[in-house]
Amino acid sequence: MIMKIAVLKGDGIGPEVTNQSLKVLNAVAEKFNHTFEYAEGLIGAHAIDKTGNPLPAATLDICLDSDAILFGAIGHPKYDNDPSAKVRPEQGRLGLRKALQLFANIRPVTSYSSLHFLSPLKTKIIEGVDFVIYRELTGGIYFGKKELNEVGDRASDHCVYTSAEIERIAHLAFKAAQQRRKKLTLVDKANVLETSRLWRKVVQNLTAIYPDVTVDYLYVDNAAMQIILNPRQFDVILTENMFGDIISDEASVISGSLGLLPSSSIGVKTALFEPIHGSYPQAAGLDIANPIGSILSAAMLLDHLEMPEEADLVRKAVSWTIEHKFVTKDIDPENNYYTSTIGELIVDYIGKNDMEEIHPLNIALRKSTII
Ligand code: IPM
Ligand code: MN
Repeated sequence: MIMKIAVLKGDGIGPEVTNQSLKVLNAVAEKFNHTFEYAEGLIGAHAIDKTGNPLPAATLDICLDSDAILFGAIGHPKYDNDPSAKVRPEQGRLGLRKALQLFANIRPVTSYSSLHFLSPLKTKIIEGVDFVIYRELTGGIYFGKKELNEVGDRASDHCVYTSAEIERIAHLAFKAAQQRRKKLTLVDKANVLETSRLWRKVVQNLTAIYPDVTVDYLYVDNAAMQIILNPRQFDVILTENMFGDIISDEASVISGSLGLLPSSSIGVKTALFEPIHGSYPQAAGLDIANPIGSILSAAMLLDHLEMPEEADLVRKAVSWTIEHKFVTKDIDPENNYYTSTIGELIVDYIGKNDMEEIHPLNIALRKSTII
């Protein structure tokens, strides 16, 4: 198959983790006889430096002309402590979500048994955890009207949802639940917020269409607690934009590192695939960032392009590295491997499918040669 993939590497560690995914996609292309054509676009702080715009029109065109988008990370510290900055890297990301109508952000949360020791949570709590968060991505408080009065001492952010916006992501979440353990949890704050009451109403109305899915409702404060107390109870979590942002970072603690979690953002146009971590500027260029969030995002991209066998092989390769403790510094501060070494190991696994005889010394020398 010939597929066009837009590549937006972005800032900080974005380029180096995305480069590992590109190596992995190339290995997949070779093994399965596909052609992936890449087109790179500028986004974020990088794009501001070069064009003055965090989301140049040329980048949007590349995305619209592609079958899928592989996204790295954006953000730069020079904007973080400057609340008065008019142009910000994040506008690139939010602008892209809006322009492509990427309304559903899907974030799977799993736990790897070899990494249980890493989590601040007890093994008995996190073993076997497997749920997915469906976070609404183009509405709510992120995109409502923002105001600051002239004196600068009163600000507001409006939270707005329409039932159509809720319905379209709810359908996706219900369908995902049907393919999984058939349980959907709506996370909201319906005891306080009008928008949350609308979410409940819309979801309740849909239950008749999906009678095989059990639905329950949790207030977000309780949900935040349950994710830590008993995460195995969850199968599909459906929630609005900001609650989803917060609980997905919280849920990453279960896996052991934010660096492991992938995501996909599905909309009405081209879908986008990105790790959930940020640009981690302190690590940029050091070859120490965890590439797994990006590589697993590439696996989700392959699923989206209807290449499930290819996607599974990538996931298998990732699990193999993790189980054999080939991990980056965020996972193991003492015994760790470079970003690029992890990428090479996964490429080797995909190409050879046999990693029994791997030589630790060569890996330590970053050769990852199989002898
Ligand atoms: C995320 C990020 C973004 C968000 C930021 C960088 C705007 O935290 O994708 O989760 O809040 O959506
Ligand atoms: Mn976030």
